[in-house]
Amino acid sequence: MKLDRKGRIVAAAAVVVVVVVAAAALAWSRRGWVSYPTAEVVNVRNVHDYKGKPLCQACHLERDARIKADPVVLCQRCHTFGHGNHPVRVAAKKAVSDLPLWAKDQVVCHTCHDPHDVRRRKGGLRLAFNELCDRCHPGH
Ligand code: HEC
Ligand code: HEC
Ligand code: HEC
Ligand code: HEC
Repeated sequence: MKLDRKGRIVAAAAVVVVVVVAAAALAWSRRGWVSYPTAEVVNVRNVHDYKGKPLCQACHLERDARIKADPVVLCQRCHTFGHGNHPVRVAAKKAVSDLPLWAKDQVVCHTCHDPHDVRRRKGGLRLAFNELCDRCHPGH
């Protein structure tokens, strides 16, 4: 098959599309989305560890980074949150690069805790205790 200039451009574009799609598929699979039949998992209590992994579908829409509910409501389905705790839904005064905030710069549970790995540190904190506080309350 002999291609003219336009044909070569189209063929090159097709190759690029195939490569991009393959790379995206690989990145997607590395995310580690796993799902189980609903009947099997409805009563799972510790959603941070089901068969050694977090149970994605307990918190996320199916294979989607978006979560199913407001982030504080989501955690409070299982975790009680009393007066001794750090306030949530308060607006952080400045963005902190490695601590995710919610809309309108709100401090939420997953700002301080990594729900994907609650064993990494005591309390599942994203940073060591003092370092964590210091990010938003410098000098205390
Ligand atoms: C206990 C609840 C919970 C479970 C279980 C959970 N996640 Fe999440 N995940 C969250 C929350 C909360 C966020 C932060 C929400 C946001 O950034 O919009 C998040 C964010 C993410 C994001 C986007 C931000 C990032 O960290 O990259 C991805 C991707 C993700 N989760 C993948 C997964 C996968 C894959 C699983 C299963 C192996 C999983 N999650 C299980 C609660 C959970
Ligand atoms: C379906 C119930 C459920 C939901 C929803 C849930 N958790 Fe949990 N979580 C648990 C259970 C059960 C444990 C394990 C407790 C244990 O080890 O005895 C746990 C453990 C933890 C721990 C470790 C506690 C420790 O003592 O070290 C943290 C931190 C945590 N969860 C944060 C979160 C956050 C943040 C969210 C929301 C994004 C969330 N959880 C949503 C049930 C849940
Ligand atoms: C400003 C940071 C911050 C925010 C926001 C926050 N926590 Fe915590 N949380 C901590 C710290 C610090 C600890 C104590 C960790 C340790 O044991 O050293 C803790 C402890 C915990 C524990 C371990 C058990 C316990 O009660 O000691 C759970 C579960 C937990 N938090 C859930 C939540 C949930 C759910 C939310 C949202 C409603 C939330 N946290 C919001 C910082 C935070
Ligand atoms: C992501 C930012 C952020 C992190 C991390 C953080 N805080 Fe805060 N904290 C806030 C905001 C926002 C408020 C609301 C009041 C304010 O603006 O000072 C607050 C309020 C407080 C208060 C006043 C509580 C009240 O009821 O008024 C205390 C005490 C506190 N933080 C301690 C801590 C400790 C201890 C840590 C570390 C475990 C920590 N904070 C980590 C943002 C943060």
